[in-house]
Amino acid sequence: MSGRPSASRRTIIRGAALTPVAGLGLAACGPDGGTSAPATPTAPVDLGPESAVAEGGAKLFRDHNVVVSRGADGTLKAFSTICTHAGCPINKLEGTTLVCPCHGSRFDATTGKVMQSPATVPLEQVPVRAEGGKIVAGPEA
Ligand code: FES
Repeated sequence: MSGRPSASRRTIIRGAALTPVAGLGLAACGPDGGTSAPATPTAPVDLGPESAVAEGGAKLFRDHNVVVSRGADGTLKAFSTICTHAGCPINKLEGTTLVCPCHGSRFDATTGKVMQSPATVPLEQVPVRAEGGKIVAGPEA
């Protein structure tokens, strides 16, 4: 009986060891916790009170990989914060500048445009609206 559990454990360890090797190139960039990669909202998500985003400001919602900004005229805009370079979730917002932790690309959170390479493609725009005093991002249901 005692031989079998150790054999199966070895199999599991070997299987786990293969995972990072197989994905080495991109794994250095992405989340490697074994959970599925975070994605931009594919259904409407409630991001909280409208007042959280000041005019001329931006707020990063890391749980949803979305940044919401508000223009001087009060218009809301939202962009995916999945870096267009190699897919890292961007986790830093300095004023209205998003900074990717992987290779240092910078994006303007109010336009989605690249401010610093290596990324060359702007962030993907996400629909956003105010509903009942709340910010709702993502496609209409
Ligand atoms: S993934 Fe390379 S800079 Fe963002």
